[in-house]
Amino acid sequence: MKAQDSNKVKNKNTHKELYNRAVKVITGGVSRNTIFRKPHPIYVASAKGSYVKDIDGTVRIDFANNMASLIHGHSHPAIIKGVTEQLQKGSAYTMGTEAEILFAELLTSRSPGFEKIRFMNSGTEAVMTMIKASRAFTGKPKIAKAEGAYHGTYDYAEMSQTANPSNWGDINKPNAVPVVQGTPQGVMDEVVIFPYNDTERTIQLLDQNADQLACVLIDPVPHRVGLFPATSEFVEAIYKWTRKNNVLLVFDEVVTYRVNYAGAQDSYSVKPDLTALGKIIGGGFPIGALAGRSDIMKVLDPRETFLRHPHSGTFSANPISTTAGRIAMEMYDEEAVLKLNVLAMTARKQIEESIKLADVPVCITGAGSMFRLHFKEKAPNSYREAYQSKEVKAIITELDDYLFFKENLIMINTMACMFATTLMQNDVDRLSEALLRGLKFVKPKIEKLS
Ligand SMILES: Cc1ncc(COP(=O)(O)O)c(C=O)c1O
Repeated sequence: MKAQDSNKVKNKNTHKELYNRAVKVITGGVSRNTIFRKPHPIYVASAKGSYVKDIDGTVRIDFANNMASLIHGHSHPAIIKGVTEQLQKGSAYTMGTEAEILFAELLTSRSPGFEKIRFMNSGTEAVMTMIKASRAFTGKPKIAKAEGAYHGTYDYAEMSQTANPSNWGDINKPNAVPVVQGTPQGVMDEVVIFPYNDTERTIQLLDQNADQLACVLIDPVPHRVGLFPATSEFVEAIYKWTRKNNVLLVFDEVVTYRVNYAGAQDSYSVKPDLTALGKIIGGGFPIGALAGRSDIMKVLDPRETFLRHPHSGTFSANPISTTAGRIAMEMYDEEAVLKLNVLAMTARKQIEESIKLADVPVCITGAGSMFRLHFKEKAPNSYREAYQSKEVKAIITELDDYLFFKENLIMINTMACMFATTLMQNDVDRLSEALLRGLKFVKPKIEKLS
C-alpha cells in the first residue's frame, strides 16, 4: 500500500451513510470520542504496516498507531501467525495458560523493578489497580497526581485532566477539577493535584497531605501535560520524599514504556514501587498490566490469609492478548527501540526545519519515539504553559484535518506522533514536507492570534 488516493475502489457504503446508520444505534455514532471527526468519522477498510486504507480506497500513512498502541504498525505477520495459532486452540478459558507465564517472564526480565506482574485488560484498569493496591498496602486513602495528566478514566486518576484557567485555581494549591459531571465530592477530597516538574510546590503540597497519601502517581512523559519528560531532579525529590513518608511512588507507563528497552523509568536513578502498563504490550490487542515490588504486589495474592485486594477480570491475561503482546515485545528489542528512537529524532529535526521555513511560532517536545507540536515559540515546561486556548485548538483541528484529508497523514489530534517500527525514512520525509505545507496553510490564522 502507498499513501495516495489514485487506487480508489468502489464501495457500496459512503462514510456518511455508515455514520447515519451508526448514530441510530450508537450514542454519537462512536464508542470512543477519539475517532470522531466533523462532520463524521472516516471508516477503515484495511491496514498493513504503516498504511491504512479507508472504504473509498484512500491510503494514509499512520503516525498515530491507534493512540500509541501499535508498536509494529498494523497486521504484523508474526503477530497474525501467533494469534491465529492460538485462536485455533481457544481465546479464553476459566483456566491458566502458559502464554501468560511466558509473557510475564519476558516483561519481568526486561525491567529491573518488575519483581512481580499481573495482567488486566486496559491501561485504565492497570492504573486503577495500581492505586487500589497502593491504598491496600499503605492503609491510606489519598493519591497525588499532576494537573493535566491523563491516566485513563478511573474517577480518582482522571481528576484535573481537563482543568482550565476558569477552574484550575492557585498554582500553589491547584483545585481538584472533575472531568465527569456528577463526580462525588468525596473523590475530589481524596486527590491532591500538583504542578508537574515544579519540585518546590509539589513537595509543599505533598507535605500538607503526608499522613493521608497512599501514592504519588507520575507519568514520566505525560502527553496531555505537554509531552516533555519529568526532570531527574523532580523524580528524585519525590522518590526521596515518599521514602520518608511511607508513601509509594507509582509510574503510569501505559504510553511511555516504549521510550527505553526497560521503559521511561530507565532514564532515572530511582525506580517506582509500582508501574502500570498497557498499549504496546498488547501487540494490538486489549491489555493492561501492573508490575512492581513483590511485597506490595502481595496485596493481590490469593494465597494470603488476609487478601487485601481481591483481583480478577473475565478477560485478564487471555491468551490472545498475552501471545500477541509477547511476540510484539520480543520484536521490540534493544536494537529496535534504539532504531525507532533515532528515526523519531530525525523526524523532529526535519520538522523543526519545516517550522523554520514556514516561519511560524511552533515548537516540538517529546521523548523516544513520540513527539508533539505546540503552537508556541518556546517549548512549554508546565501544563498551564502548554494549555491551548479555544482559538489555538481550532487552528490545530484545522491543521489536523488538512493533514488527514489533503496530505493523507494520520496524526493524534493534539498534533502528536507515536511512531511504529514499520515507518521508514520516506514516510518521515512525507510528514515533514506535508507539515511545511500545513503550517503555511494555517499561518495567516496563527498571525491573527498575536
Ligand atoms: C498515560 C495513559 N494512561 C492510561 C491510559 C488508559 O489506557 P486505556 O485507554 O487502555 O484504558 C492512557 C490512554 O490513552 C494513557 O495515555
